Amino acid sequence: MTTPPVRTETIVWVDRQPGYLDLLDQTRLPTEVVRVECREVDQVWEAIRSLRVRGAPAIGIAAAYGVCLGLQPVRDGSPDAFLARLNQVLDYLATSRPTAVNLFWALDRMRKCAERSAVRSDPPALWRELLGEARAIHDEDRRMCHAIGHVGAAILQNGQGVLTHCNAGGLATAEYGTALAVLFTAQDQGKSLRVFVDETRPLLQGARLTAWELTQRGIPTTLICDSMAAQVMREGRVQVVITGADRIAANGDVANKIGTYGVALLARAHNVPFYVAAPHNTFDLSIASGSEIPIEQRPAHEVTHGLGRQTAPDNVEVYNPAFDVTPAELIRGIITDRGLIEPVCAERIRQVIGSSEA
Ligand code: MRU
Repeated sequence: MTTPPVRTETIVWVDRQPGYLDLLDQTRLPTEVVRVECREVDQVWEAIRSLRVRGAPAIGIAAAYGVCLGLQPVRDGSPDAFLARLNQVLDYLATSRPTAVNLFWALDRMRKCAERSAVRSDPPALWRELLGEARAIHDEDRRMCHAIGHVGAAILQNGQGVLTHCNAGGLATAEYGTALAVLFTAQDQGKSLRVFVDETRPLLQGARLTAWELTQRGIPTTLICDSMAAQVMREGRVQVVITGADRIAANGDVANKIGTYGVALLARAHNVPFYVAAPHNTFDLSIASGSEIPIEQRPAHEVTHGLGRQTAPDNVEVYNPAFDVTPAELIRGIITDRGLIEPVCAERIRQVIGSSEA
């Protein structure tokens, strides 16, 4: 008997009684394709915090389903108990990670859905509406990724070298990705590219996840250590840089994985255009600039034991910010599902994005 291949979808809602969330455990890639079942909201919180599910859009989608899981046990209870639990679950999931605004965007959508429906629906019906909203968030993300791919592919030319940092692929979204969607669409259009992948210390999302996704699709991929990007640019191997984003302020400053700011500075020094790809719900127009973006601090052991063994002396002090902010002036353009933002400035962002609401 042959064993069926393990599914590789990032996030699957399994509609049983009771329903549960089935995630691809990204901490185990690329050597093991393992899925994790979340049957309680605490497991979703843990999966987000520990990066089993990660990447701004995927975090938002998982959290939306997490709301449904958290409310499942009170689905047949009183409306008051249901609404009290809803507030608890929303507040709890909001503490899982601080930087990616997609998390708060998705939780806000779930809250608004409940407010709209609460007047006319009893808890079982309200729960189904919330599940419908989580599914809508999931489906919309798929569509936005494909739209980003189409907008972005136009900036790439056959034969170019492209550098990317961290993972902004199908694993970080419903499917297809943001920065990687641009590369996948260009490939589908017959453009041949060479992608340089920063390994992305400390947690190696580039090496473990992006290199895995690109090689699976047969895109010529070269993995480099983060410290090699300057030399690779100086050698003229890179014509475009494209990364994802976790939160974009009203002025176009972009928070993304730690190291992105350094890559943007290198790109400027070598006259290489630096692009960001992100859906409209990664914009946080309530903040004027990147200085207001909360930067997640992660545990020291990710730096001292990041490669599976201890690589630093005991008790050394560690600083481990998970994200940095790239100022708008270093960014040539932002590729969104609603169009290309170029130049990157508050006025053009307002024109293209309008509002970051659904
Ligand atoms: O800490 P992570 O792995 O969640 O960080 C992910 C990134 O920084 C991605 O580049 C970003 O979320 C965009 S994903 C489409």
